[in-house]
Amino acid sequence: MGDFLKLAANRYSCRNFSDKPVEREKLVKCVEAARLAPSGCNAQPWKFVVVDDPKLVPEVAKTTCHLGANDYLAKAQAFVIVLEEHAVLMPRVAAMFDSQCFAKGDLGGAALSICLEAESLGLGTCMAGLFDRPKLCQLLDLPKDQRFFLVIAVGYPASDQRPKKQRKTLEEIARFI
Ligand SMILES: Cc1cc2nc3c(=O)[nH]c(=O)nc-3n(C[C@H](O)[C@H](O)[C@H](O)COP(=O)(O)O)c2cc1C
Repeated sequence: MGDFLKLAANRYSCRNFSDKPVEREKLVKCVEAARLAPSGCNAQPWKFVVVDDPKLVPEVAKTTCHLGANDYLAKAQAFVIVLEEHAVLMPRVAAMFDSQCFAKGDLGGAALSICLEAESLGLGTCMAGLFDRPKLCQLLDLPKDQRFFLVIAVGYPASDQRPKKQRKTLEEIARFI
């Protein structure tokens, strides 16, 4: 297996974090990986709020433990909130598509880059799409109409055990012609 495929196979959604704090330099590298991600028309319609203040982290964690889900994120040591910004597309593309038409895909790619860089640095991550949006907006001082749909919990895994990947087979998802 090539190095990248190994990294992709090793990354998993960590739901059991240890108490070890995450170094700021590692979080910076994760955001750097996101900064290098591709985006439609190179619009880079993203911003990232990185929370590693030990007083604020548990407050953010509370907003992700939402509707009876995600209790395990309470032990995360940092969070990256992925914000969707206005995308400025090339004029010819903008004439055909809504400005935000590529943004969700762009953000997904950037978010995965964060998780893969974190994996390469020995960190665990779990993306969370379920969170208390109004409370998180208030906590991070974000405008009420700020678009964001993804929060990434970060920390050192408490265990070396990785869950077995549950995935569709290659035959189910790909057609080579
Ligand atoms: C957009 C998105 C939202 C997600 N939201 C949550 C969530 O709120 N809570 C959670 O525990 N996992 C969440 N996940 C993680 C998925 O459940 C996980 O990626 C999937 O089950 C595959 O497992 P793996 O990441 O360990 O390979 C989310 C993943 C994505 C991409």
